[in-house]
Order: sequence, then C-alpha cells, then structure tokens
Amino acid sequence: MRTLIRNATVVLPDAVEHVNILLDGPRIASVDAPDSSRADAVVDASGLHLLPGLIDDQVHFREPGLTHKEDLHHATRACAKGGVTSFLEMPNTKPTTTSLRALDEKLALAASHCHVNYGFYIGATPDNLDVLQTATRTPGIKIFIGSSTGDLLVDSQQALERIFAETTLPICAHCEDETTVKANAARLNGGHQVADHSLIRDHKAAIIATRRAVDLAERHKHRFHVLHVSTADEVEFLRGTSDLITAEACPHHLFFNISDYVRLGTLIQMNPSIKTAADNDAVWRGLLDGTLEVVATDHAPHTLEEKRQPYPKSPSGLPAVENYLALLLNEVNQGRCTISQVASWTSAAPARIWNLKSKGQIREGFDADLVLVDLNKSEIILNEHQLTKCGWSPWHGETLTGWPVRTWVMGQTVFAEGKVIDEVRGTEILFDRLK
Ligand code: DOR
Repeated sequence: MRTLIRNATVVLPDAVEHVNILLDGPRIASVDAPDSSRADAVVDASGLHLLPGLIDDQVHFREPGLTHKEDLHHATRACAKGGVTSFLEMPNTKPTTTSLRALDEKLALAASHCHVNYGFYIGATPDNLDVLQTATRTPGIKIFIGSSTGDLLVDSQQALERIFAETTLPICAHCEDETTVKANAARLNGGHQVADHSLIRDHKAAIIATRRAVDLAERHKHRFHVLHVSTADEVEFLRGTSDLITAEACPHHLFFNISDYVRLGTLIQMNPSIKTAADNDAVWRGLLDGTLEVVATDHAPHTLEEKRQPYPKSPSGLPAVENYLALLLNEVNQGRCTISQVASWTSAAPARIWNLKSKGQIREGFDADLVLVDLNKSEIILNEHQLTKCGWSPWHGETLTGWPVRTWVMGQTVFAEGKVIDEVRGTEILFDRLK
C-alpha cells in the first residue's frame, strides 16, 4: 500500500516545510515526493500540519489485572484518536512486570489487543537484579523510588546502588521520598481533604528523591530519566546535571495547580502531587529552555466511582492520552510554544532517549507513524466522548483549538473522520542498543 499525503505543512527534524510525503507499506518512502507519484491512496492535507506520531513514554494501561479501569484495547483506541502512535507502559499491573515471563505475557497480549505500537518497562524490586540484567524486549528499567499505585517500591540504598551499578538498560524513576511522605502523612493524620495530598507529597519529597536518584546515576555513570517533574526546585537542580540525565513533564503539572482542587477535587489527585502556579510556570520554563526534554502523560485511569471516594481513600491518577496533543496544540495557538517544540517533546526526544529504532521523525526510511492535525479545529472535551475505558477526563468542559484529524500507525490509517479503525494493530517497538 502506497499513500501520498499531498500538500501538508510537515514538521521535519530541522524545518517546517510544505511538501508531499509518500508512504510505502510501513515506512516513509519520500519526504519530497512529486505530485505525480504513483500511490494507492491520496490524502489531501492542504491547510493541515503533519507531525511524527506521538511517543508517550509514561502510561499505565492496567492490563493484565486491573482491566475494570482500563485495558489495552480501549487505551490504544484513545491513543489513535489522540495522535499517540507508540507507548511505553509502566510495570504496576497485576501481576507486576518484574519477571521475564510477565514481560513476555504482556507483549503477547499487546500483539493481539493494541491498535498502536507498544513497549513495556521492566519493573525493579529489591531482589530481581537478574531479571533487570537479562531483559531485552524492553526500553528500560522503572524504579518506584517512592511508592504510588500498587506495591512496587525500592527504597533501600543498598538495593538502589546495586541496580545502578550492575545493570546496563537505561533507568527511569518515580521520585518522591518515602520517608518524607510518611512523616508528612503522620503529621496530618493521614490527611482529610484532597488539598492535604500536596502537603503530604510535598516539594521536599520530590526534590529529595530526585537528588538521590540523580546522585546514584552520576556516580555509577548510568543513563537516567526523571519522570514527571513537578517542582521549580527540581527544574533548577536539573539545569546543573550531566548529559547522563534527562527529564520530563506531564500535562497535569503544566495545566493544574492546587487552586484547582476546589473545582476538580480528587480527579486531579496525582503522584507526584500537583503543586503551585509558580511550579506550573517553572515546569513550562524548563521545557522551553530544554532542561526538560519530554512531555508524556502518565495516563493513569481509575473509575469515577473509585476517584469519588473521600480522600485519602481515593486513588491517585488521571487519564490523558486522548487529549494531550490537543492540550499542547492549544498552547501553540496561544503562542506559548511552537509546533516544532511540541514534535520534539512528544516524539523526537522520547525516541532518542529510549533508543527507539526508526521512530520519532518524519524522515525517509523511518516508520510511517504520523499524525495530521488541524490547528484551526476547536472542540470541547466531554466525558461522554472519551474512548478511555474509565470514561472521564479532568479537562471535561474545556474547549481546545488544534486537534488530530488523522493518525497512521506503520503506514496504516488507524484514525480518520472521527473514527478509530479497529482492525489496525500496532507492532512491538524495537530498540537500538548500539546508540
Ligand atoms: O498518580 C499516579 N498514579 N502516579 C503514579 O505514579 C502511578 C499512577 C497509577 O498507576 O495509578
């Protein structure tokens, strides 16, 4: 199947140009194809922008074991609609992805259920070093340095030293200091209202754990990626770290702060917690000056019934894959960032950081994972329109301008004219270990 995408404004690695793109099977055959190119299908992209498909390197898709909240089928339909063509998923499913067998089982499930491309982190425990040393079909190791949803936690310094010293896969971590969180929780009697969540999982908890993890990575000369940076202190600290260290921001830490608890309550209860408006600004500045290189969602669905329990019974997490590109394109329209920056944060950078083979750029020979967006399209986000299985969004009622209108996964259209094409399957993401 050859597809000619005609007359698009294309976000290339070093420029935004008006060109024709030719797809041949699963690859990009040309980024400057003549109008007369032989093709089985022609898509007129006049007035639209073509971006590399998004690579969301931090999601929780809940399968196996927690499929009343989300599953691979629903989550990847939401991805297709949102322009996300590849995801890397976290290990806090049931069972946890902490053995080679659990990893293989997840990959097998994904092959039959996923409508976009898939990859899964291997989770660290205090005693699965051998697994972390032998896993290959994975982007890297996830460590919860600070507990969150589920019971994955590595807090012992000795265990952490060994993981950083004796493994070679890149590592990423959830950084919130367990001792600080526990002490804060004790002081507040466990917390009584959702605003307490940001006092329990406070600024100090975030910076202490981020410093600790970066210290481990720098001493052991290990590639390390800081997930969901939520504070100005962390951004400031990360400005001075070495090239071994990369870091990312999430939409909820860009768009929500503690003043939103009044309106949204436990819907925006997250780990790390949302912080202040000043922290929102600092995280944005970190992105704009290159200190933070990635925007990923931390898509972590729970049912509305679960979320509406009184704090602290309510679980932390919110869904986002479906709307995150639109949230960022809306900012492009407001002049806060450029479309090239969005492509870098959501595709080129995660592809480079996790060594994804042939992904993250619109380049000849690269995988035909693409999203066509209409920067002028305005649409309201409504719970009843969400494709995620949990069926709600913390952005319910917000109108955004700039939306995906067509998504290709490995050369196949998986979303067009407002519909997901359910027959399409993604492929296992491959990693270029030589980089
Ligand atoms: O708020 C969160 N929810 N943060 C995490 O790190 C995990 C996630 C979940 O899996 O629910």
